[in-house]
Amino acid sequence: MADFTNDFWNYYVSILTLLSVIGCGVFLYFLSRHKIKPGASPDTTGHVWDGNLQEYNNPLPRWWMMLFYITIFFSIVYLLLYPGLGRSTGALGWSSTQQHVSELDKAAKEYGPIYAKYAAMSLEDITKDPAGLAIGQRLFLNNCAQCHGSDGRGAKGFPNLADQDWLWGSSPEAIKISVLEGRQGVMPPMGAALGSPEAIENVAHYVLSLSGSTHEAAKAAAGKPLFTACAACHGAEGKGNIAMGAPNLADKVWLVSGTAAGITNTINEGRNGVMPGWKEFLGEEKSHIVSAYVLSLSKQK
Ligand code: HEC
Ligand code: HEC
Repeated sequence: MADFTNDFWNYYVSILTLLSVIGCGVFLYFLSRHKIKPGASPDTTGHVWDGNLQEYNNPLPRWWMMLFYITIFFSIVYLLLYPGLGRSTGALGWSSTQQHVSELDKAAKEYGPIYAKYAAMSLEDITKDPAGLAIGQRLFLNNCAQCHGSDGRGAKGFPNLADQDWLWGSSPEAIKISVLEGRQGVMPPMGAALGSPEAIENVAHYVLSLSGSTHEAAKAAAGKPLFTACAACHGAEGKGNIAMGAPNLADKVWLVSGTAAGITNTINEGRNGVMPGWKEFLGEEKSHIVSAYVLSLSKQK
């Protein structure tokens, strides 16, 4: 324990601890010397309840007293063996850090070969390996489900990973980059560029028309020329661009919202979708297996 800012606290804690242990012993000793003389009227504490219910001041039974002596003995042995007295490291030299490190080592020895086996396989091959997918599913449930859902079907702003629609590309390589490095889909607020609220609403109806969703034709027609402001990212036909994670607006799959009001809101506010990178946290090998699991999700019918 090197956390004390100066020696004073080291002694302060050690002395207080020792005094309490010794104090308990002394207290017990005096209690056990207290005997009742045979035939004498019992000693009472003077407390009386319910008219005649008296509290006797009898010593504890011997077995009970012994239990207390054992705990004192235990605490002294413990303080000698383990860190507990101020800065003392204890005779065994145990530390929680070193226990953690040795558990990690043990896990690495036990599971390392399993991860190494999958690391050498391609994502497609792992999708055909039930044991590998089971590991991938557990990794997914522990690390990804809070955003993408336990079935990978996503939520508003968090993409569905179990469909054929990809923001950043469907190839195994693209999926693995998404997982390892993370992704950030940035759409700036476009309201000012379009000008009036009518113009924004018109563009929103044009976006709806791209996927054949319910829209007002006149507004969509008025919005069409304004879509040039969006084409740089979403493409001239609104089919999206995986290089910058711009969603395809011409299908009926919506990341955020597929209503005129929701689209108007996206145009006004902009969007910033952040997928954290997992290289640091999960490491290369686990990221590889969970990527394969994601790939398998989109392949199931
Ligand atoms: C700088 C590139 C860029 C421009 C310009 C841009 N967008 Fe986007 N847009 C994006 C990105 C990236 C996303 C995804 C945001 C995310 O990942 O959360 C997005 C998301 C959207 C969405 C949500 C799609 C869904 O599935 O819910 C809509 C709607 C949209 N944009 C419409 C527009 C319109 C209309 C314009 C033009 C007025 C426009 N965008 C201009 C990059 C752009
Ligand atoms: C904090 C929430 C969060 C967590 C946790 C998270 N993701 Fe994501 N993920 C996102 C968001 C948001 C996006 C979309 C980014 C964007 O808007 O472009 C995304 C995108 C993705 C994509 C790209 C999807 C596409 O359409 O191209 C993949 C693949 C993915 N995540 C897999 C995972 C995996 C595997 C895990 C667990 C190891 C994980 N995610 C954990 C939020 C999260």
